[in-house]
Amino acid sequence: MKRKRTAILISGRGSNMTALVEAAADPDYPAEIAGVISDQPNAAGLGIAVARNLPVQVVRREDFGSREAHDEAIDDALSGLGAEIVALAGYMRLLSAPMVQKWQGRMINIHPALLPAFKGLDTHRRALEAGQRIHGCTVHFVTTEVDDGPIIAQAAVPVMIGDDEATLAARVLKAEHQLYPLALRLVAEGKARMENGRTVFSGFGDERENAGLFIVAPRPSRDGIDLEQLARITP
Ligand code: GAR
Repeated sequence: MKRKRTAILISGRGSNMTALVEAAADPDYPAEIAGVISDQPNAAGLGIAVARNLPVQVVRREDFGSREAHDEAIDDALSGLGAEIVALAGYMRLLSAPMVQKWQGRMINIHPALLPAFKGLDTHRRALEAGQRIHGCTVHFVTTEVDDGPIIAQAAVPVMIGDDEATLAARVLKAEHQLYPLALRLVAEGKARMENGRTVFSGFGDERENAGLFIVAPRPSRDGIDLEQLARITP
């Protein structure tokens, strides 16, 4: 199996990056991490990547006159890494249309909400304000519309009574770390492809593989969720 060379773009903490790097540590995983690029020199994720001996590069927006020029520099860095897939993992910058078009079908993003609900920022606060009982995260192909590309996989988590932004964010983040490696696997294997603005799935030998497309997490018995509280809301 030829593993797909995958570059990860980050801006901060890098916990999703770490989840992908850990998945790719398995030689049977269909993607290998070619390197990490950050627009922020102080991104904590850079240190994690260096500690794991991954090539890292910082491409600061301030060093370029326009978004397009910044994206071209990132694109050069991606070429240097021989990247075949780009995974945005908390990359907090909008990409220019030429960059998105060039990578269309080969660039994926994780968003902390069940799209198409709650595009943009502050997703957990807005989900709480809206009184959602279910929230989650989505991995999708990147298109020129922000947080709008074809969905590859989603994870749902309960919104618990008494949740605040921090507790809900932590539950979603845990689900993100499970979901992103599954979604990258599907793309690297060619089982999830973008065609005519939709995600097309193929090559599923076994119905059970559909489980890669969604996760309901945390599983009450496994992930330390308050079982009593769960029983109250799901009698
Ligand atoms: C994650 O929750 C990710 O879904 C979100 O930023 C966080 C990055 O955390 N991304 C977006 O909001 C993009 N619109 P991480 O750096 O620890 O992976």
